[in-house]
Amino acid sequence: MAASSFDYSSRPPIEPTTLGSVLSVRGSEACVGLPAPAINDQLRPTVGTFLAITAGRRRLIGVVTEVASSGDTDADARCGAVARLDLMGEIETDAVGAERFSRGVSAYPVIGDAARIIGRDELRLVYKASSASASAINIGVLHLDDSIAAYVDVDNLLSKHFAVMGSTGVGKSSGVAVILNEILDVRPNLRIFLLDGHNEYGRCFGPRANVVNAATLKLPFWLFNFEEFVDALYYGRAGVDEELDILAEQIPIAKSLYQTQRASSEHVILRKVDPRSAGYNVDTPVPYTMQDLVALIDERMGRLENRASRMHHHRLLSRIDVLRNDARYAFMFENANVGGDTMSEILSYLFRLEPSSQPMTVLQVAGLPVEVVDAVASVLCRLAFDFGLWSDGAMPMLFVCEEAHRYAPADRSVGFAPTRRALLRIAKEGRKYGVCLGLVTQRPAELDPTIISQCSTLFAMRMANDRDQALLRSAVTDAAANLLAFVPSLGTRELVGFGEGFPLPTRMKFKPLAADRIPHSETFQHAGAHGATGDERTFVKAVVERWRGALGAKTPASEESSAEANGPRNANLASPVASRIEQIRAQILKR
Ligand SMILES: Nc1ncnc2c1ncn2[C@@H]1O[C@H](COP(=O)(O)OP(=O)(O)OP(=O)(O)O)[C@@H](O)[C@H]1O
Ligand SMILES: [Mg+2]
Repeated sequence: MAASSFDYSSRPPIEPTTLGSVLSVRGSEACVGLPAPAINDQLRPTVGTFLAITAGRRRLIGVVTEVASSGDTDADARCGAVARLDLMGEIETDAVGAERFSRGVSAYPVIGDAARIIGRDELRLVYKASSASASAINIGVLHLDDSIAAYVDVDNLLSKHFAVMGSTGVGKSSGVAVILNEILDVRPNLRIFLLDGHNEYGRCFGPRANVVNAATLKLPFWLFNFEEFVDALYYGRAGVDEELDILAEQIPIAKSLYQTQRASSEHVILRKVDPRSAGYNVDTPVPYTMQDLVALIDERMGRLENRASRMHHHRLLSRIDVLRNDARYAFMFENANVGGDTMSEILSYLFRLEPSSQPMTVLQVAGLPVEVVDAVASVLCRLAFDFGLWSDGAMPMLFVCEEAHRYAPADRSVGFAPTRRALLRIAKEGRKYGVCLGLVTQRPAELDPTIISQCSTLFAMRMANDRDQALLRSAVTDAAANLLAFVPSLGTRELVGFGEGFPLPTRMKFKPLAADRIPHSETFQHAGAHGATGDERTFVKAVVERWRGALGAKTPASEESSAEANGPRNANLASPVASRIEQIRAQILKR
């Protein structure tokens, strides 16, 4: 069975005309005898065509999944072809004569029932059911008839997670921008957090989004749990057991010390704090200071006689020192203790918990050190879920994650386990606490299958890879799976929508975005054709400086600046180097 590119949109409106009749019925599948060759250009039922079967008071709506020549033995001699049809919903007329579409089939056709291509009014009716509801959002037009708007039901979309999948460049990010903009219109109280891996959504939501980047992010180290902190401390590598034991013992003491010092400003003698009675564990999200932690480790080292143990303490202290002074990690350490316990402020700011005209945060992580992105994603995902949990879902939140296969890979031996766990937790239990997941991935086969199985609405865009298609096939119902034949041949912006958000599995096209709202990378852009002019050379030099800055080397700009005042991160993003890059890039592009 080959996918068809049967294009209704360029044809005149399809009006109901009887085409054939039911030859056999098996479960929700019916075979319909069709004339072959086709009667005329308008009546060419093929794979993907929607047919309506009149079955008593109801009209059953189904999609053609296969068309074959009837052959000699194949039933009715008047039909040259037999179409296999998956029945997906029905239109019923109620007592007062009003028509209503519902998903699923409550009565089946009988042999001889008339079948015809679905009419425009019927298509409208199918989609009207959803468009009439206050929670319907219009995200594009139907492929069958581009005069009919395609709606998604927000309540269904948000109650059980959704995923947008497709190869690179097919329009996933633009589709997400369309969906989220529409959701913002109908759900002003929903908080949306978007983890933007390529810094491309900065301009997609206009003034409604609070855009946070590496230069403005504040995520104090004490909000990291033990695993996340260790991941940052060892730059994404596994930690050293002896050092981890020391940390696991001293962090709760540092927390307790901070709280004691806060409670009474009296001087506390370090030795007297017993970690077991402290009441904090290594993961409790309460502040502590790095000075205390370092002093505690130092003090413990001073009491040791064993040279090897002293060495471990010493190495750990140097590691902490390196991390604290690493310009790229200033978002964790700089002013981390200013203002005391700022957890509620940070949560409110990041997740837009206080009423504001910006119910959405776009976190651009591309300027952060690559090694720490997983830990940051883990912290944020965990905080989003835990806030939902401890607030009993009082403030519904949508957590959207681009490049989801990176954070929760199917191969459990790669990736950062806490991020996967945090995402899985939202996928499995988030619904109960008002936290919904929106995932975007180029490689669904590489995304943890448990997470995909929890997504009840799928937006499948073009995907050529067999493994990705197989994954998708396993994620949708049998009836809808036949529509997957279209997936490799979809155009840019086109998709097949499955699941609870859609009234029927729908082939459709996302709305076009205005040019200034299309997601577009802010971190890198090709500068077009280069000549060996001064500008290009300066541009390349600036890029090299920025590159080195991102890898931790001190750039001349950051050395010049009084680093403390501006914040070391600024050397990476908001520095004169970066703005100079922008200037030169603009000049080159203009040319
Ligand atoms: N809805 C849309 N409106 C306007 N342009 C679009 C739309 N969808 C896609 N495009 C065009 O296609 C290009 C690629 O789209 P987009 O960046 O959304 O793809 P993607 O699937 O997210 O790619 P990647 O996997 O590389 O992130 C856009 O730059 C834009 O020109
Ligand atoms: Mg994208």
